Amino acid sequence: MHPTDAAGCEDGVARLAARLAGARRVVAFTGAGVSTESGIPDFRSRDGVWARFDPREFTYQNFIGSVEGRRRYWALGRETYPLIRAAAPNAAHSALAALHRLGRLDCCITQNIDGLHQRAGLPAEAVIELHGNATRARCLECGAAYTRDALHVRLEAGVAVPDCERCGGVVKPHTILFGEAMPQAAVEEARRRAGAADLLLVLGSSLAVFPAAYVPRHARRAGAALAIVNLEPTPLDREADLVLRAQAGVVMAAVLEAVRARCAPDAVTPTGG
Ligand code: APR
Repeated sequence: MHPTDAAGCEDGVARLAARLAGARRVVAFTGAGVSTESGIPDFRSRDGVWARFDPREFTYQNFIGSVEGRRRYWALGRETYPLIRAAAPNAAHSALAALHRLGRLDCCITQNIDGLHQRAGLPAEAVIELHGNATRARCLECGAAYTRDALHVRLEAGVAVPDCERCGGVVKPHTILFGEAMPQAAVEEARRRAGAADLLLVLGSSLAVFPAAYVPRHARRAGAALAIVNLEPTPLDREADLVLRAQAGVVMAAVLEAVRARCAPDAVTPTGG
């Protein structure tokens, strides 16, 4: 937590908890910043993935178009996937799962591919993965299914580009690359759920990548209040009803505690909300 935000953050936590406790339908929208406290780097922070790799190389066209494009992709994957595999859900993931159990969260729309929301206890049907999931892969020719772990066994054994063992085709993880078509069902479900929310909570996203970043905008335009918890400014801060410049895990642990206190059977809600 940024010291300058410590005081502001306590007030922000109380205000966010009040909104969560009083909302009719809350939808969370998460980005890579919600997983950094689990040891997975985000993309656009100073020490993020795109500070060390050039995102222009990791397009769908490059992956499909050449062995060299796939070699570069799998070289990046050898750095990032072990961090995903070793990661455990942090307080932010756990708080969202607890809020869902309390009936205080409708669903979580995520840009993340690490599966930590599900591993924290959010039911799969309450997680909408806009950019797919890194733990599974398939052959684009014959459809053979692979686990990411099985592919990394081959990568660690020296295979630079793991092709399909059945037909020799191109094997691609279930993640959405730049320039790749988004999963239509997930996009439509995210739009529907965000459009029905009366509170849209952004956790750990720069809100810089479209079409995913349309989701909070759509919710706002449909009348939802907008709360943003992010360490750096985002393009939507000015439209937000509440902005907390603090760590998502720290904030959400405190917010969960405050919501539980408000929802406790003998809780007396202080006037003024
Ligand atoms: N708490 C709160 N905010 C955090 C934390 C944290 N612990 N750690 C990092 N952040 C913030 C960073 O300041 C940054 O603004 O989270 C944001 C993460 O932004 P990005 O790295 O751009 O990640 P994201 O918004 O998820 O990117 C969207 O871009 O590269 C593609 O497909 C990739 O899904 C990704 C998409």
